[in-house]
Amino acid sequence: MKYDYHVFVCANQKAEGKKCCGEKFGLDAVKILREKIKNHESASRIRIQRAGCLDVCGNGPAMVVYPDGCFYGNLNEESLEKIAESHLLGNHPLSEFMLPEKD
Ligand code: FES
Repeated sequence: MKYDYHVFVCANQKAEGKKCCGEKFGLDAVKILREKIKNHESASRIRIQRAGCLDVCGNGPAMVVYPDGCFYGNLNEESLEKIAESHLLGNHPLSEFMLPEKD
């Protein structure tokens, strides 16, 4: 596999009044995550990019980390930094910010 982790951060912007993660948050989140990992030895093995809707809009802002398939929601700067540190750099998914799996 080309990457150890491939992260898709929702930057979907819906019409005003509809719940969504939002383009601004998504782009800012990508920057925060990239900044957090950039000086780490495994940075080149982690790909972080913006994405369209991940279909968990009610729990946004959201992102998903593959190959684990972990969906994280209700994100803010603090949780993004913790997820980067623990999951992306430490290989320990953080259940406290994970969205429950659907059946
Ligand atoms: S708008 Fe982000 S998950 Fe749908």
